[in-house]
Amino acid sequence: MVREFGDGYRLRRATAADHAAFNLVCLRTGDSGKDATAREDDPNLLGLIYATPYQVLEPDFALAVEGPDGVCGYVLGTPDSSTFYHRYRTKWMSQLAARVRDPGGDESRWRGSDWARHAIHHPEIVYPPVLEAYPAHGHIDLLEAARGRGIGRAGLEHLMGLLRAAGAPGMHLQVSPRNRSALKFYEKLGFGEARGSDLPRHTVFMARSL
Ligand SMILES: CC(C)(COP(=O)(O)OP(=O)(O)OC[C@H]1O[C@@H](n2cnc3c(N)ncnc32)[C@H](O)[C@@H]1OP(=O)(O)O)[C@@H](O)C(=O)NCCC(=O)NCCS
Repeated sequence: MVREFGDGYRLRRATAADHAAFNLVCLRTGDSGKDATAREDDPNLLGLIYATPYQVLEPDFALAVEGPDGVCGYVLGTPDSSTFYHRYRTKWMSQLAARVRDPGGDESRWRGSDWARHAIHHPEIVYPPVLEAYPAHGHIDLLEAARGRGIGRAGLEHLMGLLRAAGAPGMHLQVSPRNRSALKFYEKLGFGEARGSDLPRHTVFMARSL
């Protein structure tokens, strides 16, 4: 157990038994923080790309948020993005790709979760030199009922402590520019926007030293 928040909410270390719930949380926060259920035809792919692999590949940095109705969030990370992404590509995405068809590169023909199927076959991993001062990265998502209770701050601060203890000098997180509320949350926690010509324009990287 990491921490109790009252009303049945608690933060604890995640286990493999949390994977199905993580996939659901990822789906229900997958449209820039909002519910992506209506957009996807496969409810698990978002979580299989962005959440579950962190528990599998980095179990020491994987936290689950539990509420009165079960798991309602996660806080996930890795202290070393370079090593993580290598294992993610070779151990995780290659196995996933064997179970999912490639919809091809013509975006105009993509439907439902085809964008995710394409991402599984052609992972877009962004870790340019400008982020190397912040080699840890992470993901945090909470279902609506769990928000605004201080769980996000406590969870991310706990994760930052684990990453710092593992030797990471800094951390970054990738955010959609449309997710104003997450951007404000990260700013409150001391993150600022990383800037560099080698960063893609369609996404924001928030970074801070640890
Ligand atoms: C973003 C998120 C993780 C924040 O977690 P949370 O538990 O709601 O945040 P907390 O209650 O711990 O708030 C922490 C601080 O951030 C501030 N904050 C949180 N959301 C904010 C918002 N929309 N606007 C301004 N400040 C905000 C709080 O006021 C608080 O400040 P304080 O600690 O100085 O008093 C959570 O809302 C969430 O999961 N949202 C949907 C999924 C998502 O967008 N994830 C991020 C994807 S990149």
